[in-house]
Amino acid sequence: MADVFTVLAQDHREVQAMLAELEKGPTGATGASADQLALRKKMAETLIIEESKHEALEEMYFWPAVREHHPAGDTLADEATAQEQEAKHVLADLDKLDASESRFEELLGTFTAAAREHIAFEETRVWPGLRSALPAQVADELGTKIADGKKTAPTRPHPHTPAAPSVLKTAGPAVAAADKARDAATGRGTD
Ligand SMILES: [Fe+2]
Ligand SMILES: [Fe+2]
Repeated sequence: MADVFTVLAQDHREVQAMLAELEKGPTGATGASADQLALRKKMAETLIIEESKHEALEEMYFWPAVREHHPAGDTLADEATAQEQEAKHVLADLDKLDASESRFEELLGTFTAAAREHIAFEETRVWPGLRSALPAQVADELGTKIADGKKTAPTRPHPHTPAAPSVLKTAGPAVAAADKARDAATGRGTD
């Protein structure tokens, strides 16, 4: 079974690949056709869905472990969850826009820069200390919880829900079910 670092690293590589793909364009400003803009919107939806699940699961399982095991856990977790909350506001706005709107590219650009910094923060500032402090069995258990949690995690950013693990674990399943119902009704995230 993959440990927590392997599971999170796989998500990070997927997000980075999606960002690189979106960066290639074409965009509304660089002559994208209607079909290309529709595809761009779908790609952004997939990015928002994957990112929402990833951050919600980190908030439920990863940051509590950082706080418990990392010597500087509280400071690091506070900083990282603040970054995550900020990104959710950007993604919630982005989710409402069509790819033909210039604000769409503006927000996507903001998110791209912030997400790259956030991933680097987690992997270079948080992971090394946690790797040496976290017992292997706990790292495995966390990996399993996060991998399994993908099925029931929220698919929308929810910037107004506090990033507290207790709130997410209590409200999370209902929020995720509502997200999925809305996704199904609107065709969001499907090809
Ligand atoms: Fe994160
Ligand atoms: Fe992450």
